[in-house]
Amino acid sequence: MKNSQKVFVGNVNKEYPTVDRAEGVHLWDTDGKKYLDCAAGVAVANIGHGVREVLDAIYEQGKRVSYVYGATFTSEARERLAEQIIALAPRNMEKVFFCSGGSEALESVIKIARQYHLESGRPGKYKVISRWQSYHGNTLATLSIGGRPSWREKYDPYMFGMPHITPCNCYRCPHRLSPDSCGYACADELERVIKYEGADTVSAFVLEAITGTTAPAVAPPVGYMKRLREICDKHDVLFCVDEVITGLGRTGKNFAIDHFGVEPDLIAAAKGLGGGYVPIGAVIASRKVVEAFRKGSGNLMHSFTYAGNPVVCAGASAAIKYLTDHRLVEASAAKGEFFLALLREKLGDHPNVGDIRGKGLLIGLEYVRDKESRAPFPADRQIGGRIANHCFEKGLLVVFAVPGSADGILGDATQISPPFTIGEADMREAADILADAVRAVCA
Ligand SMILES: Cc1ncc(COP(=O)(O)O)c(C=O)c1O
Repeated sequence: MKNSQKVFVGNVNKEYPTVDRAEGVHLWDTDGKKYLDCAAGVAVANIGHGVREVLDAIYEQGKRVSYVYGATFTSEARERLAEQIIALAPRNMEKVFFCSGGSEALESVIKIARQYHLESGRPGKYKVISRWQSYHGNTLATLSIGGRPSWREKYDPYMFGMPHITPCNCYRCPHRLSPDSCGYACADELERVIKYEGADTVSAFVLEAITGTTAPAVAPPVGYMKRLREICDKHDVLFCVDEVITGLGRTGKNFAIDHFGVEPDLIAAAKGLGGGYVPIGAVIASRKVVEAFRKGSGNLMHSFTYAGNPVVCAGASAAIKYLTDHRLVEASAAKGEFFLALLREKLGDHPNVGDIRGKGLLIGLEYVRDKESRAPFPADRQIGGRIANHCFEKGLLVVFAVPGSADGILGDATQISPPFTIGEADMREAADILADAVRAVCA
């Protein structure tokens, strides 16, 4: 196939459709085809497309001042945004570091955690422990803490040797135990690895509290999270959550960690923070972390040129205002329950739909070759990709989850993560198209 497009992205042999415009939960391409956006891009456009208040705020800020270097000036927009974020975050949070996206946020978590220990007189602590079947970004450091084998293997020579533990997934328990009697064996693995590595070398533990596109919407039991927090406290390891997908209401609470009654030390956010209007990421730092800097050198040795610039902050601030004014976090919780029930009704009995799970409007469907054994499909059937393509043909956008939801290599899933403004009729239409796609592809 000939491709005349000049942008170097994805498949170089493929001609990509050109988007023309978007409004609410719909997009149109330049051929006039209409799409229902049940992906929100990739869990980004949480407040919907084309929100006038956000676009106006960006323009108004740009007219006054569009750029200043963040270490020279602050701006009203940046200070207001930080206050809005702190107001939504767990109560122990004090300050916000801004950057331009999720990978930068996770890079910043690694560096802030390291500096926290230096400031606290523990210079040996630098290792970051994370979990397999997780995603933390696409830069080399964040790929190194990520747990997606297919995305790491090409860059394997560059991977930093960071330790990983098995994830918590009760549908596919890596320890072959059951949640009512397991005693959170998968959380205890963290303590074992800290001891093996040497607690005086481990700086932070990072996890997606509820996982995104590697194993969509897998949520652990509350006790698992509490145990992880205890282990981190015991060994002076910072407990850090990657809320790049889940933050700002995606799972029906402000942050996914709010489901577990646990306060983290650092939170990474991005995607929904800018709502698709501005490229922004953030690290929210707890009082404990900030206090170490205050008592130490006082100086955070880390910044980015575009971090927290006034235009971006004004856009994100308006997006958060829209989110809270329209009670969209509550909407995500209620609509998520409705959508989940609908999908269970349409697809619960399908022999190849093994698990339908979700929290708020982060919903995952996992496909299996055999429902009883939960055996995944062989990779060459490309079930997940073909279901997403089938939906796309029919004008429905869903997120194609990266293969590996079963064991890191095999396992097909779909992530559904629409804007929180989606209506009931849209959810019914989406569920019908998805059910048709599953029936057609799995036949
Ligand atoms: C959980 C998680 N962390 C980090 C990232 C990286 O974010 P970005 O693509 O904005 O760099 C992503 C992106 O999908 C993500 O889902």
